[in-house]
Order: sequence, then structure tokens, then C-alpha cells
Amino acid sequence: MSKGLSVHNANVSYGQRQIVHDLSLPTLPHGSLTALIGPNGAGKSTLLRAVAGLEKMQGVVRLGDLDLSAMSVAERAHRVTYMPQNLPPGLSLSVMESVIAALRVANVQGFPLSSEACLREAFEALQRIGIAHLADQLLSTLSGGQRQLVSLAQLIARRPQVMLLDEPTSALDLNYQLKVMDCVRGLVREHNLIAMVVLHDINLAARFADHIAVLRQGRLYASGLADEVLNPALFAEVYGVQVRIERCSQQSLQVLADRAV
Ligand SMILES: Nc1ncnc2c1ncn2[C@@H]1O[C@H](COP(=O)(O)OP(=O)(O)OP(=O)(O)O)[C@@H](O)[C@H]1O
Ligand SMILES: [Mg+2]
Repeated sequence: MSKGLSVHNANVSYGQRQIVHDLSLPTLPHGSLTALIGPNGAGKSTLLRAVAGLEKMQGVVRLGDLDLSAMSVAERAHRVTYMPQNLPPGLSLSVMESVIAALRVANVQGFPLSSEACLREAFEALQRIGIAHLADQLLSTLSGGQRQLVSLAQLIARRPQVMLLDEPTSALDLNYQLKVMDCVRGLVREHNLIAMVVLHDINLAARFADHIAVLRQGRLYASGLADEVLNPALFAEVYGVQVRIERCSQQSLQVLADRAV
């Protein structure tokens, strides 16, 4: 049985309208970060929600030899965490309380953590993302980007095996974009996790992802290493943009979009 997360023949519809069409992904191995890219409306969020078990789908999602599609929502949520593109409105909790609440939910099935351990782990998650200074602030008083950072802290505190992150850097400044991607990649490597991250920033994807999967009109258009997948023909066809793909002085891949065609 293959290790890692695999998606086979996924079909997802909203009512009569089919969005994801018979989509299979190459197995995402433990210790890897996959960037899911593609134009607006391609079905990236729909696919992520289906893998998280939040949309009804036909097909199979496996984690190693476990069939996630056959699990209850609670069992599945224990292994797979999901951060939505549109965050729910903040409750009247402090940042620290919200991370502790996420930790407690995750621990329902496991060994209950002492209050001291909860505090320590929640604080560690905030530190890891670089937002310990927000610990006492109310969620309702945070900026959009700060709210996104807290959601990520809630998610990593739960110590998932699989992280599904829908545009986790969309509201972040340059510093936090790099911090967050470093943090996600660090966790993936340290704890042998699997991350699938939706990104619109192709350069961030090329820099941090081990694999890139490109979605177009609900179908997998291409997948593989950034070097193999990203080329001018793909950008013309999938995004309708003319690009140059160059190496910067540090040899990382840079996609320069010149014009929409
Ligand atoms: N709840 C819903 N009900 C009906 N249609 C939906 C719903 N959510 C999304 N869609 C439709 O499904 C298609 C794919 O949407 P999805 O949100 O998965 O795209 P996306 O690739 O995440 O796009 P973006 O980059 O803009 O976030 C779109 O045409 C959208 O209109
Ligand atoms: Mg989306």
C-alpha cells in the first residue's frame, strides 16, 4: 500500500454543476509540501474541501492504508486539518484562548492535556508563527493578516498529519509570507507531515513546494517538480498570460508575468 496522501478519481459537484472532474493526484508523500495552483474558479478550494471531508465527493482519499472517505468527520479531522480561504468571523476570545480551544478539540480523542501543557503548546504555536505578542488580543480586534496568522497557529497546535491550507499567505506582508511558508515547510520536514497549500503566488510556490499541481477547469493539468511543470506554454494556456521564466542570482526560479493575452 502506498504511503502518503492519495486522491483517486475525485468528482465533486455543487447541485447539477460538476466542478472537479475525475481528478487523481500522484501520492503526496510524508515530509512533502505540494502547492496547488490554478486560475480563479479552477476548483482548488473545492478540491481541498473535498479532501478535508467537507464536500460530498465521489472517489477515494487515502492516507497510507486508511480510507479517509470511509471515516467519520471527527475521525478524519483528527488526521487532516484544513484552513479555509475565507476565515470564519472571530468569536470573542483572546488569541491564546482560541489556540487553546483548538488544542482541546484536537485532544478529545487522545490523552487530555493538562492546563499547563495546553498553555505551553499554544504559546509555542504562536511563537512558531511569530505572533506571541498578540496572545492577549481579542480575535475581533485583529487585522485581516493577523487573523490569518492566528488561524494557522490554531491549526499547527493541533499537530495534524495532513495540513490543507487554502491561500494561507493571501493577506500577509512579505515578512510573514516568508515566515509562514518557512514554518509550514519546517513542520513538514520535522514531523514528516503532508501539506497541500493553495497559492496564487507562483514564485512562493516554486520556492517552497516540493511538488506543484496545476488545476484547470476542475481537472489536473500538470504536476511535478517546479522546474518540470512551470513553462511559458503552461502560463499561456492555463492563465492566459505571457511570462518569462528566469533564474535569479540565487538560482531560484522566477516567473515574470509580462502581459495578459
Ligand atoms: N458553495 C458553492 N456553490 C456553488 N458553486 C460553487 C460553490 N463554491 C464554489 N462554487 C463554484 O465552483 C467553481 C470552483 O470554485 P473554487 O472556489 O473551488 O475555485 P478556486 O480555484 O478556489 O478559485 P479562487 O482562486 O478564486 O479561490 C467556481 O465556478 C465557483 O463558482
Ligand atoms: Mg479558492
